[in-house]
Amino acid sequence: MTAIALFDVLYCYERSGFVLSCPRLELRLGELTLITGPNGSGKTTLSKLMCGILRPKQGRISIFGRRADELSLGEIGSKVGYLFQNPSRQLFAPTVWQEMLFVQEILGQDPQPARARAEQLLARFRLADLKERRVYTLSRGEQQRLAICTMLMGGAEFFILDEPTAGLDRSHRTELYKLMDELLLEGKGLAVISHSRELASRWKCRQVRLREGQVLA
Ligand SMILES: Nc1ncnc2c1ncn2[C@@H]1O[C@H](COP(=O)(O)OP(=O)(O)O)[C@@H](O)[C@H]1O
Ligand SMILES: [Mg+2]
Repeated sequence: MTAIALFDVLYCYERSGFVLSCPRLELRLGELTLITGPNGSGKTTLSKLMCGILRPKQGRISIFGRRADELSLGEIGSKVGYLFQNPSRQLFAPTVWQEMLFVQEILGQDPQPARARAEQLLARFRLADLKERRVYTLSRGEQQRLAICTMLMGGAEFFILDEPTAGLDRSHRTELYKLMDELLLEGKGLAVISHSRELASRWKCRQVRLREGQVLA
């Protein structure tokens, strides 16, 4: 199933004049798509378009079959999770446990099922022992796993990971790869921005290349 589709999308930053153009591009559930290209080629810009943080100047994006321009950022966020290059910038509660329940609390949902689900997810992603820890004391790899857990709490089915292997040591990379495998097995979709040869050789997946703002098929 197609999770995200872009149709002749054009984006431009007024300030720098950088232009991103993308012909038809489809990202599907159950698949991993690797997005590669040199620094400054537009990888982060493309991923922010795919999750609604940026809105195209021309063209159209559809998310799970609905027009993205008719969806709020919150509606897109409940389907598409975006892991920042620096995950500490997307975590804002004091502790791991509070971070997990943040959205449910704002929405005033029944806390009992949310708590049970949070416990399950933390155990599954080897964060259960860190429940009471301050978020800023976590390692980068732990922050990534926590951010992905919070997206799963919100119901996300497609995940965009922006340079997730940067700054991770081997053991945290191994944890991340395991997590990616699990998400794919569950039928979730992944788009991963990375230069890592390790990633490309481990999954033999489809690659989308960017050069100077052009998405090459
Ligand atoms: N907020 C912004 N305003 C203006 N220009 C930007 C902004 N963000 C990124 N750019 C420019 O857009 C280009 C692509 O950036 P980016 O998408 O971050 O590339 P990548 O992730 O491939 O390194 C760069 O030249 C960058 O300077
Ligand atoms: Mg980037």
